[in-house]
Amino acid sequence: MPLAPLDIRPSRDPRYPAGSAFLPPLLSGMFRRIDATESITRLATRFGDLVHTTAFGRHIYQLNHPTLIEDFFLKDAAKHHRGMVMQRARVILGDGLLTSEEPTHMRQRRLAQPAFHRQRIAAYGETIGREAVRISASWQPGTTTDLHESMLELALRIVGKCLFDLDVNSRDEVRRISAAVDAFMGFLPLALLPFSTQIQRLPLPAMRRIRRGQAELDALIYGMIRERRAHPGDRGDLLSMLIEAADPEDPSYTMSDQQIHDECLTILLAGHETTANALSFALWLMAQHPDVQQRLHAEATAVFPGRAPNAADYGNLPYATQVFSEALRLYPPVWVTARTCVEPYEIARFTIPRGAILIAPQFVVHRDPRFFDEPLRFNPDRWTEAERSQRPRYTFFPFAAGSRQCIGEGLAWMEGVLSLATFARDWQLTPTPGSPAKIAVNPAISLRPKHGLALSLSRH
Ligand code: HEM
Repeated sequence: MPLAPLDIRPSRDPRYPAGSAFLPPLLSGMFRRIDATESITRLATRFGDLVHTTAFGRHIYQLNHPTLIEDFFLKDAAKHHRGMVMQRARVILGDGLLTSEEPTHMRQRRLAQPAFHRQRIAAYGETIGREAVRISASWQPGTTTDLHESMLELALRIVGKCLFDLDVNSRDEVRRISAAVDAFMGFLPLALLPFSTQIQRLPLPAMRRIRRGQAELDALIYGMIRERRAHPGDRGDLLSMLIEAADPEDPSYTMSDQQIHDECLTILLAGHETTANALSFALWLMAQHPDVQQRLHAEATAVFPGRAPNAADYGNLPYATQVFSEALRLYPPVWVTARTCVEPYEIARFTIPRGAILIAPQFVVHRDPRFFDEPLRFNPDRWTEAERSQRPRYTFFPFAAGSRQCIGEGLAWMEGVLSLATFARDWQLTPTPGSPAKIAVNPAISLRPKHGLALSLSRH
């Protein structure tokens, strides 16, 4: 499909692109409890590929076309800093990969990267397969109240074991860590509010919950670091790499416990909920499409009958890969990527001022009828090899791109594909009677199913 031309609409004020000059629909959406994903979609439909709004005196530019998205991630990346949320999140996340700026970010990325190399991901395949089978075996036929909780547990076990050699043994422990992560994540929306710094000092129940979550995660992570320092040696995981940190470009550099903590916390948070959300949306889509499930079941049964899948199976599961891709298209867990402009520059003749917020909305571009026929239809056949090779770049960017592209992308694909194939091999999923035809989403920091995921299960 050739790429549709850039659609820049006439604006009233020649200094700014078309848009809504007053109360921005993104925020009015939040106040009226309208889904913010709908608000940004409406903005794109009404105002075209470059939209301008303002909020609290800040200029906001929304980029809705693949050529603008490409420039945003690559050509103009040096003119941006992390978005406002991430900058504020530093108070609590410290200086990890998500929040740090250059040159710290590049050095930390160099040090963490080996844990995500292709050979390492292949080694993680065995853990992923084992954990997916364990979760699948824990389900009971009938109605399961919340498969989303199951997906959170799965993602936590996988990140814990693969990256920190951490065995999360009991269900209670999983719940405790999950609850701590969840409470802690509650801080991020708070960080967006004006007067956030003052709010953090108030003795609010929400703040107390966040601090409790923080204390719990700190104890877990510093405990792991202490244990490793006491028993040094390479266990082939991320934690070993960070502790042994050898930067080829600066051999004298070592990481302090605080820095290792910040990286571990960041990766635990970034790798846990995103993948769980992607899997939950994929399961919901599968439940709506028995034909897709049937094909997936046939593929999985042929590739790994009667055993857990592993990395060697990954390449033999093309249909599972298509299903996971299509779920990431329709429900991208990172539904919008934001940056702050630190050096004024031009986009389509308009000057982007310092301090402006730029957003590249995965949710909007992935559902644009110019780039995907019948965009709201769940159709894994869009992702066959032949179709994929025709598709223009940056029409699909669930893992972003450029120097800040998701470091866990390879792990997420392996996790998504092997897990979906395992569930489809073992179970038939159907919507619970009377459930709505559309899944309600909660566009928090990541896009989540708003009311969990209740599905009926019957064994194959
Ligand atoms: C389906 C699952 C996932 C999705 C959709 C996803 C998506 C993304 C996106 C879009 C970004 C870029 C954010 C930005 O530039 O503002 C990102 C960054 C990041 N992701 Fe993921 N991610 C997933 C899974 C993971 C996993 C499994 C891990 C690690 C275990 C992980 C760790 C990270 C880290 C550390 C960053 C920051 C990278 C940097 O700035 O250098 N993610 N992710």
